[in-house]
Amino acid sequence: MPQNVETTTLRDLLCASVNAELVGRRVSVCGWVAKRREHGEHLAFVDLRDYTGVVQCVVPGSLDVRSEYVVRVTGTVARRPDGTVNEKLATGHVELTECDVDVLSVAEPPPFQLDDRVDIDEQVRLRYRYLDLRREKMQSNLRLRAKVNSSLRRSMESQGFCEVETPLLWAPTPEGAREFVVPSRLRHGEFYVLPQSPQIAKQLLMVGGFDRYYQIARCMRDEDLRADRQFEFTQLDLEASFVTQADVLGFVTEAVLDAAEAATGVRPGPIETMTWKEALDRYGTDKPDLRIGLTLHDLSSAFATTDVKAFSAPTVKAIRVPGGATFSRARLDQLTDQAKSLGAKGLAWFRVTASGLDSPLDRFLNDDERTAVRGVDGAGEGDLVLIVADEYERACKVLGALRLAIAAPPVSEGPYRYLWVTEFPLFEGVDDDGNLVSAHHPFTMPHLDDLDLIENDPLRVRSQSYDLVLNGWELGSGSVRIHRADVQSRIFKALGISDDEAQSRFGFLLGAFRYGAPPHAGFAFGIDRLVAIFAGEENIREVIAYPKTQSGTDLMTGAPKAIGERQLRDLGLRLPPKG
Ligand code: AMO
Repeated sequence: MPQNVETTTLRDLLCASVNAELVGRRVSVCGWVAKRREHGEHLAFVDLRDYTGVVQCVVPGSLDVRSEYVVRVTGTVARRPDGTVNEKLATGHVELTECDVDVLSVAEPPPFQLDDRVDIDEQVRLRYRYLDLRREKMQSNLRLRAKVNSSLRRSMESQGFCEVETPLLWAPTPEGAREFVVPSRLRHGEFYVLPQSPQIAKQLLMVGGFDRYYQIARCMRDEDLRADRQFEFTQLDLEASFVTQADVLGFVTEAVLDAAEAATGVRPGPIETMTWKEALDRYGTDKPDLRIGLTLHDLSSAFATTDVKAFSAPTVKAIRVPGGATFSRARLDQLTDQAKSLGAKGLAWFRVTASGLDSPLDRFLNDDERTAVRGVDGAGEGDLVLIVADEYERACKVLGALRLAIAAPPVSEGPYRYLWVTEFPLFEGVDDDGNLVSAHHPFTMPHLDDLDLIENDPLRVRSQSYDLVLNGWELGSGSVRIHRADVQSRIFKALGISDDEAQSRFGFLLGAFRYGAPPHAGFAFGIDRLVAIFAGEENIREVIAYPKTQSGTDLMTGAPKAIGERQLRDLGLRLPPKG
């Protein structure tokens, strides 16, 4: 028998369930006093609130309760008298009358008004998070999160995935972020590391024959916090054996569409796919926001033999800003400054007018070049054309950032535009020691057509990795993994990881691979980010019960905190003298 979630020993109903069908019944409800009004000496009105809503209770006589007292009210359901109906309230046609009130807990006046319509300083909200959580918005955000989690679990299970919990006390993983470390009491001078993700653990589960694993996994990364980043966050993490990239994209698409449908009531259509190269070429980023146009156009061939110094560069890229001719000089200067701060030498702008182009650079152009600028994306009178000339990636990325600065709506604003980005480069550059750096992680399988380039032209090696993007936010990443020892050792060599280092850092994984590793691939996406977008929030803090502030503190508990001498001694730690 499913349990009735409303009835408990103390109450018959939740507040929002009091309705006209119950008129005449005597019922008990429990909750917090949202508001209290006296009506003369002999009548008091209490708005009682629980997580479902508010119901009005009429109490004969005077009453000694204040806001946020916890009470149990027993009263008779009645229609409200004419003229007192409140259409804004779900229970606005009824009330509880002849109420008896039991005070279950008294409350001091709260430090802020628990009302969604009032703007409250976030520091105060976080300090008293337990009170903030009583507000309708936080209730609805966290309940939405629960709904998304439960739909993800259902989706993964219906696709044959098995949930396995992996350890939080773990060893370093190669995800690239700084790690949180935990000192060992039993082995002084040795440390656990909190996992940045279950990456290696899940690959070992594939060696362990789990075939399809998933987990709603907590991950910890000691990195700078931003709107879409916390120290602790949650991933839907998955890995599967005997699959290709296409299979993984299929699993994840199904899970995300299921979650979207559960959260919004609408199942999005199929998710489109674009290669990393196309994304960079047309949107100037590896996470294109498809809600906005302003795509990048290539003018490199039109300026290949130019005499204009500002345009003598390997790549010349342009965007058309519809109606942008009205941008003030100050706005254009601001965009130029932004371009420079991103490494560009400058930003060329052209207002398209009835008679031609209005720009300080116009007089330097020849007719063909002028025609090329006028031709960007069918530019017409009143538009603005912005041009960056530089080496390829920089030209694309600078214009990509300007495109967002000019036109990006808030991330959670509809429509939801999902996108798969595939074929990322395997390496993203070279570090200070001249070693290549993995774009994803060192276990990512190169594109099989590019294996020969690993030693000769590594920056051109494409990988079998893929990202899922929603409205310009990276939701998640994944890859086909290397399961062949020969390919893995070539990659370690390219990354400057010696055999000894590989053995000491990942020996347990490499060792496991000697005992029969199936081909496998996987993915993980950030549940905090997905839920924030569904909830209409711009910051993932709004969908996390107890988040950290930008500076990494928990204002409610005061963490991080100093610990006592004794505890330090037990852990074999000594702090440097202060000062
Ligand atoms: P990656 O490091 O790309 O991949 O992380 C996957 C997704 O996790 C979310 N995420 C975060 N969310 C909030 N705060 C953070 N600090 C944070 N860092 C990451 C993002 C991101 O896209 N093990 C691989 C996946 C795999 O290859 O299977 C991994 O963790 O939404």
